[in-house]
Amino acid sequence: MEINTIGVCGAGTMGRGIALTAALAGFNTRLFDLQPAALEKAKGQLQKELNRSIEKGKLTEALAAQALASIAFTDEIDQCLAEIFIEAIVEQPEPKIALFNQLAELNHSDCIFASNTSSLSITQMAKSIQHPERVIGLHFFNPATLMKLVEVVTTPFTTPVVQQTAWKLMQAFQKTPVLCIDSPGFIVNRVARPFYIESLRLVEEEKASMAQIDRIMTGAGFKMGPFALMDLIGNDINFAVSCSVYEQLGKPERLRPSPLQQRLVQTGKWGQKSGEGYYQYKSA
Ligand SMILES: NC(=O)c1ccc[n+]([C@@H]2O[C@H](COP(=O)([O-])OP(=O)(O)OC[C@H]3O[C@@H](n4cnc5c(N)ncnc54)[C@H](O)[C@@H]3O)[C@@H](O)[C@H]2O)c1
Repeated sequence: MEINTIGVCGAGTMGRGIALTAALAGFNTRLFDLQPAALEKAKGQLQKELNRSIEKGKLTEALAAQALASIAFTDEIDQCLAEIFIEAIVEQPEPKIALFNQLAELNHSDCIFASNTSSLSITQMAKSIQHPERVIGLHFFNPATLMKLVEVVTTPFTTPVVQQTAWKLMQAFQKTPVLCIDSPGFIVNRVARPFYIESLRLVEEEKASMAQIDRIMTGAGFKMGPFALMDLIGNDINFAVSCSVYEQLGKPERLRPSPLQQRLVQTGKWGQKSGEGYYQYKSA
């Protein structure tokens, strides 16, 4: 199946990076968000990211301008016409299902619906979507423009043509697709849960400070410590993923989400995107 236009829904941390990845790979891209302010912010952030690539000599000014020009920013769902949609909206099943069903009404009968969910069941979502055979998971990592890995999650309903199209698209994006069975947290987020949860427990038990744990883990070879990483991901998203994996696995004590992180979420300390999380950031 030929893909010319890609719709990305949600212009936050992940959506804007996925949209830029698509645009840099030469696709017409539509970036949709309900919030005009989120679209404005995304435009500014993408311009900054492109400027950094130009300064580093990774991109010419002409290519950067071309990529940005190939992204149509919109808050009108009627403008969302594409051959594939990749959603990166809130980590809750109901809004994702409602969005895909709305898009199905507007688009061609071959259109593919890909979710960038970190933890929700793609199979359960597919069951509530008008065309379950066209639903797939495409789980990118943060920052989406830089991280190569994409977990490709199929369900018993996904057709081979949808899987092949999604796989080839990830190759066209110059990503490394990996096929995953649909299970809570897929592979990376399941393996990573104790990294976050045990670090939070150490702080709750007053055995170590956040800065100490981050320093030690980077010293041990991790690219980022858990607290800096949770601030990059967004504590609202990271906490939602922990809750979702915990619930789906039958609430094992070892994966109980952290009350400390819950407090941060409730007080709007979401990390880099809100200007404060475990650490303070100059500009949101
Ligand atoms: N943050 C990460 O590191 C990361 C990594 C991989 C996957 N994900 C997944 O990607 C998704 C988005 O995460 P994020 O960190 O980019 O979130 P975010 O909070 O940064 O951005 C979400 C955006 O979606 C918009 N939105 C909400 N409901 C919408 C709707 N119905 N239609 C259109 N736009 C809507 C919001 O206005 C916001 O701009 C989640 O499912 C998350 O689990 C996140």
